Amino acid sequence: MYATHYRTHTCGELREAHAGQIVTLSGWMHRSRDLGGMTFVDLRDRYGITQLAFNMSTNADLCSQARKLGREFAIQAQGTIQVRESRNKELATGDIEMVVSKLEVLNPSALPPFLIEEETDGGEELRMKYRYLDLRRSPLRKGLEMRAKTVKAVREYLDDQGFLEIETPNLIKSTPEGARDFLVPSRMQPGNFYALPQSPQILKQLLMMGGMDRYYQIVKCYRDEDFRGDRQPEFSQIDCEMAFVGQDDVLDMFEGMTRHVFQRVLDYALPPMQRLPYAEALSKYGSDKPDLRFGAPIHELNAHFSDTEFVVFKQVLDSKGLIGGIVAKGCAEYSRKQLDELTDFVKAPHRGAGGLVYVKWNADGSIKSSADKFFDSEKLKSVATEMGAQAGDLILIVAAKTEVTRKSLGYLRLEMARREDWIKPGEWSVLWIVDFPLFELDPETGERIFVHHPFCSPHPEDLEYFDSDPLRCRALTYDLVMNGNEIVSGSIRIHQPEIQNRVFDLLGFSEEQKKEQFGFLLEALKFGAPPHGGCAFGLDRWVMLMAGQETIRDVIAFPKNNAGRDLMMDAPSAVDPKQLDELSIAIKKKA
Ligand code: AMO
Repeated sequence: MYATHYRTHTCGELREAHAGQIVTLSGWMHRSRDLGGMTFVDLRDRYGITQLAFNMSTNADLCSQARKLGREFAIQAQGTIQVRESRNKELATGDIEMVVSKLEVLNPSALPPFLIEEETDGGEELRMKYRYLDLRRSPLRKGLEMRAKTVKAVREYLDDQGFLEIETPNLIKSTPEGARDFLVPSRMQPGNFYALPQSPQILKQLLMMGGMDRYYQIVKCYRDEDFRGDRQPEFSQIDCEMAFVGQDDVLDMFEGMTRHVFQRVLDYALPPMQRLPYAEALSKYGSDKPDLRFGAPIHELNAHFSDTEFVVFKQVLDSKGLIGGIVAKGCAEYSRKQLDELTDFVKAPHRGAGGLVYVKWNADGSIKSSADKFFDSEKLKSVATEMGAQAGDLILIVAAKTEVTRKSLGYLRLEMARREDWIKPGEWSVLWIVDFPLFELDPETGERIFVHHPFCSPHPEDLEYFDSDPLRCRALTYDLVMNGNEIVSGSIRIHQPEIQNRVFDLLGFSEEQKKEQFGFLLEALKFGAPPHGGCAFGLDRWVMLMAGQETIRDVIAFPKNNAGRDLMMDAPSAVDPKQLDELSIAIKKKA
């Protein structure tokens, strides 16, 4: 049938005030119930669900038609709105129903491979294959609605602040963001490749040199790396840059944007954000993305055990390592089994601790510890008291190399928060981490590498170490951390060609490599480049957190799976040999 209008209203908008009106709705057959003389159909669209009522005694034909509707049939119904006999408080439209007088099947549906309900029976891979059906479920729809709302609020704020939205190309030269590039072969220049941007980093800096002053872009970035729950090979950034700014200008601007978005999207007033130095984040929370929705900071205990004979502690002290501990409030009654689990947790290879020492300060005031033999109760009680513990608390101690102690206790505080429900729903921890180091050593090769990217400005106070002790040099680099997730990274950039040159030198680039890879940037810096800086928000991660989801796949319309595959389109896939010929590409067999 050809229709000029498919509906007068949506399935989410009819209320008691519409009673008596004749309306037309279109949507999907969500569910139906046959109750002898009556059949009820829930009609669903993006906006909600409306109940359709069919009466066997007044319209037997229509009622039998309704009984034949299958799940996910696309249908159109016309009828009169009436107030329901038994109202449904769970549903926004639950006060009314439509007494149907005309029913049209717009398109029947094959049996869906999983339930299109809030809770579904379909596994994730199956749902990704039929993503268009999964998108009909409310959790995914809500995620995308929140995403659209976020982007709208971002544009609103940045436009108000005079930012220009400017597009940058997708076929570019490689930009170093620490991942592998996705490459695109050039047909016209055989053997040459474009790289898809890992981010528009250099381009936005060039826009500042081009006088654009305030730039932003909601932009796809492409990184060929191993994927996890919070990583995708293509993801979106809210990419921003400003000219003639110092670090505080940038932090103030984007703190303002974050607060604006929280207010618009969640109606939540975020308090002003702490700016925590990187070194303090590591020493207190064992992480550069600490979750501060709960306490349990790391206490450094070396001074308390300086004269110990306990060999584990002694060895660590002799080798200038760290004895550190956290207080688990109210956990003194942990069983042997629970303590063994925690020990295994810190000993897992990627956490690397050799073991865990516990001190239980029982509610009756007695002390029980795995290091009882070496320390008397008074000593342990005094250490515990210094850590802010009291009767009923459990102290967990790791002694190892400083980085290992910090890292494993950092993980342990998160694990305790998970086990003990220390995090209350609706709470937020949003803070800046500042003063990251400029360089670090690659744990595998031992080579000096950049921490963020090679365009970050060294901290002016640390320029004296730049040549003598580069690892000591801080950068004007910052991250925004939200509930323990890195949401934003940014920096003040180098705008002087000689400093950029020296950073490339310290990173081991030859003159040749500098010229080949970054010649155009070094050239541009010579023409009065303004001081500039900016940052990029990981849009997917931010929306995931605001939507209360566990993975960014839930807030991306068509995501890839963990192996980087699009299961719906079946990509990547082999291509016609003719296409390869045109690109002068031959596929090498993997050995
Ligand atoms: P960075 O590489 O830290 O900085 O990226 C910025 C933010 O993007 C998000 N993010 C990702 N999200 C999903 N999947 C991924 N694979 C992924 N990788 C990163 C994170 C991260 O904080 N050009 C710089 C920014 C700048 O200096 O202005 C950059 O890209 O939330």
